[in-house]
Amino acid sequence: MSLFYEVTPELMTGNTLIDSEHKQLFQAVNQLMDACSKGKGREQVMQTAQFLRQYVDKHFQNEEQLQIRYNYPGHPAHKQFHNGYKQKLNETMQNLINEGPTVKTLGDLNQVVGVLVSHIRVEDKKLAQYIRDAR
Ligand SMILES: [Fe+2]
Repeated sequence: MSLFYEVTPELMTGNTLIDSEHKQLFQAVNQLMDACSKGKGREQVMQTAQFLRQYVDKHFQNEEQLQIRYNYPGHPAHKQFHNGYKQKLNETMQNLINEGPTVKTLGDLNQVVGVLVSHIRVEDKKLAQYIRDAR
């Protein structure tokens, strides 16, 4: 189970805004993991989980705005993924807050982050490439 996430070269999209937000996002994940693993208590877990949720919302919004601005044909599907993801993330964060860091809730957290990593590797890279080609 990975306890530290970073934007490896393979995950770089080449879009400055998207990449810098992904870095922030992984940092937020790492802070949450850290709060969980060090037994920082419910308050800290809640705060970091809340921050991650808000940051994901903001980041998805920014990506969707870029898609609209560049008339990205993949916009509907990408937006649909974002909406489903936000819901799944909310559930995962809520369980983590309610049940505390357990093997199950941390496993779910890693799983949900893994889904995002795959999305970055494929869909966000595709989006960044489209924007580059359009410029
Ligand atoms: Fe995305």
